[in-house]
Amino acid sequence: MNRTPVRRRRLSVAAALGTLVAALALPVGLLGASAQAGENVPGQAGQNARAQAGQNARAQAGGLRDYAAAAGVHIGTALSEGRLGETAYANTAANEFNAITAENSMKWESLEPTRGSYQWAGGDRVVQFAQDNGAIVRGHTLVWHSQTPPWLTPGAFSNAELRTIVQNHVQTVAGRYAGDVYAWDVVNEPFNEDGTRRNSIFQQQLGDGYIADALRWARAADPNAALYINDYNIEGINAKSNAMYNLARDLLAQGVPLDGIGMQAHLIAGQVPSDFQANIQRFVDLGLDVAITELDIRMQLPATADKLQAQAADYTRVMNACLNVDGCIGVTVWGVTDKYSWVPDVFSGYGAALPIDENYAFKPAYYAVQRTLGGPGNPTNPPTDPPVGNGCAVRYTVSNQWNTGFTTSVTVTNTGSQALSNWTLTWTFPSGQRITQAWNGTATQNGANVTFTPASWASTLPAGGTANFGFNGSHTGTNTAPTQFALNGVACTTA
Ligand code: XIL
Repeated sequence: MNRTPVRRRRLSVAAALGTLVAALALPVGLLGASAQAGENVPGQAGQNARAQAGQNARAQAGGLRDYAAAAGVHIGTALSEGRLGETAYANTAANEFNAITAENSMKWESLEPTRGSYQWAGGDRVVQFAQDNGAIVRGHTLVWHSQTPPWLTPGAFSNAELRTIVQNHVQTVAGRYAGDVYAWDVVNEPFNEDGTRRNSIFQQQLGDGYIADALRWARAADPNAALYINDYNIEGINAKSNAMYNLARDLLAQGVPLDGIGMQAHLIAGQVPSDFQANIQRFVDLGLDVAITELDIRMQLPATADKLQAQAADYTRVMNACLNVDGCIGVTVWGVTDKYSWVPDVFSGYGAALPIDENYAFKPAYYAVQRTLGGPGNPTNPPTDPPVGNGCAVRYTVSNQWNTGFTTSVTVTNTGSQALSNWTLTWTFPSGQRITQAWNGTATQNGANVTFTPASWASTLPAGGTANFGFNGSHTGTNTAPTQFALNGVACTTA
């Protein structure tokens, strides 16, 4: 109909990857039926003399990628080419992942630091690594308000000039990597949390139509890449994902070349949206592919065995949300190792967000992912069923409220079978509340995210035990109660 047959749904991804895996002579048992299907493998038509997929550096089979290929999805990672000199980094990236996203080197500031003068070395290195290792490349990203070069400032150019600049950038970059890139995040993060358009330079000067334009320009430059819009906090059904849904529906109705939606999924342990799968499904029902593009699940540091188990259960939830929907074509985690994750730099006090730790050891989350893909899971520590809110119960009562302020009392019950020492309770405020004063402990707030740490005399919560604390806060007119709490990273029920 309105789109050329470039979209690669799950079967086709499997075919592309299966062909690559077959070329690498990996155990046939891991391939499944998908290896039989034939399709052009992205990455064959590089402009530079890049290595063919068969000349790979992979040392061993049995990585996540092998199970993913058999399951018909990709499992990817963000890659920083500057780290490839570290053997463990390069080997882990090669062995575990069959999709690669440049963590930074295909962003506008990296590729075009000076207007019209392109620096391809970093992006090319990422493509080369992917091709050497039989992985697909997710291109990230053509039009984004962040990590733009210093010369691209609002008002520096007329609207008409800016439009030409964006068109040139999109077409130059998409053209350069045509044949190498499986999918492009053509537009990244176009929405605010409330579903309005983010006031980026592109929105300000080019108006609503910049997204359709960028998609069309990308399609013209690379007719074979799947074209995506990518954003964060669109994993659950909420104002922002509704806006994305409406945009996608409208673009498709207008015949704009849109093939998929990327859900970044920078998540907090204990707060995986319960409607993640339903949300993926509604986009697929529009006829789009969905990819989870930047998955990490952060926790408050230090990581403990409990928190790591809870995180593993969250990884299982995310993987299943994707695997249960035909048309969710793969999952990319945002980094090879906790050692270089962006999380601690950006979310103060948080970290340990990836399946592989800072020493390249596999965490419970790694085995959880492996198990969802049909692998054996952790041989020495078999996973338990995800503790879906069976470890704690929270009662959140607003005892007093006035025009800009409120007082809340919180009761948390440890419904698990083990006492918790040094517990913390985390939640996210839905409507911009700020805590001004807490009692029976300390509340630290980072944007909408709150971590409550009890006073030392209340820091142990016996099995079946209850703790009570409270706080005063401010609000801006609405004071919607939070509904998702986590005790030491394990989701709680609310009453
Ligand atoms: C992050 C990188 O991981 C960091 O190294 C960099 O300093 C900032 O950007 N959403 C995106 C990604 O689309 O490009 C961001 O990556 C993380 C949030």
